[in-house]
Amino acid sequence: MSTSHQQYEKARKRIIQKKRFYIHVILFIIGSSILFSLTLLKGFNLSYNITYVYILIVIWFILLVLHFIKVYITSKFFNQDWERKQTENLLEKHNKKVIQLEKKLQKQGLLPKEKKERKSIFFTKKKQTITIIAAVGNNNALGKDNKLLWHLPNDLKHFKKLTTNHDIIMGRKTYESIGKPLPNRTNIIITRNKDYEVPYGALVVSNLDEALDATRKDECPFIIGGAQIYNLALPIVDKIELTQVHHDFEADVFFPEIDFNIFKEVSREIHKADEKNKYDYSFVTYIRK
Ligand SMILES: NC(=O)c1ccc[n+]([C@@H]2O[C@H](COP(=O)([O-])OP(=O)(O)OC[C@H]3O[C@@H](n4cnc5c(N)ncnc54)[C@H](OP(=O)(O)O)[C@@H]3O)[C@@H](O)[C@H]2O)c1
Repeated sequence: MSTSHQQYEKARKRIIQKKRFYIHVILFIIGSSILFSLTLLKGFNLSYNITYVYILIVIWFILLVLHFIKVYITSKFFNQDWERKQTENLLEKHNKKVIQLEKKLQKQGLLPKEKKERKSIFFTKKKQTITIIAAVGNNNALGKDNKLLWHLPNDLKHFKKLTTNHDIIMGRKTYESIGKPLPNRTNIIITRNKDYEVPYGALVVSNLDEALDATRKDECPFIIGGAQIYNLALPIVDKIELTQVHHDFEADVFFPEIDFNIFKEVSREIHKADEKNKYDYSFVTYIRK
């Protein structure tokens, strides 16, 4: 994602945050005026305790102050940029300590001189593991009429467990087949349609490069389909998390062939069908050799 896009997203979020606060202020003014006028009605001998109304107004006011702190103090000073800077400072301190320790050990002859050339692990950029996650029937069947072919609750749990708190990249058709952004994940949707609109929180990009660029902060972004996007991504991914559903399905989209000269299987969990999961299935992990 380009910097200007990031800035635009940030500004958009900030405007929404402020807008919510202003609405809260207005609601508070209207609400507390109504409550206050209720206390005046007390003069007409209505049977309720005025103190409760005052307590209610005070509690609401405290909530309004907390909201103010969240929008104008916490969010301003302790936002993601602040966290990133703190982490960088901390890593820099660690790095200095490591360099000092290395120098000391070299003086004492306990560490060979060439070790001096070694870069600190704290400054080594963490590599991303770009992962495809997919479920396939026999013959790599993926879906039909823009829908999945089975309902396997255990596979959905597996998918949720692996992808939660990560960035997920998908084609426009897969997004539409899901129908909404998946919660607790940054949903990135690839489409050639520049005017494509998605709900707040999801991102629209126009190619795979842009999608991957948007995931820079995530060490393990996932490509979640469908067939067109798997085809684009397979040549560059590091890992494939594949659920094999051991059954023949009629399909109109298929997962691309995995080249076993390039990928090797590193784990396989076999599961039998049960009352909730209608078919036998296996969770298989492949990594790039
Ligand atoms: N079994 C599984 O694990 C699994 C997972 C995901 C999906 N599925 C199934 O897969 C099917 C959907 O897959 P699909 O292959 O038809 O569609 P898809 O890959 O989800 O999305 C295709 C769309 O992505 C956009 N796109 C593709 N290549 C692009 C490129 N190079 N640049 C820019 N945009 C690009 C285009 O959107 P525009 O047309 O808007 O430009 C294209 O129509 C459904 O049946 C779904 O249920 C199965």
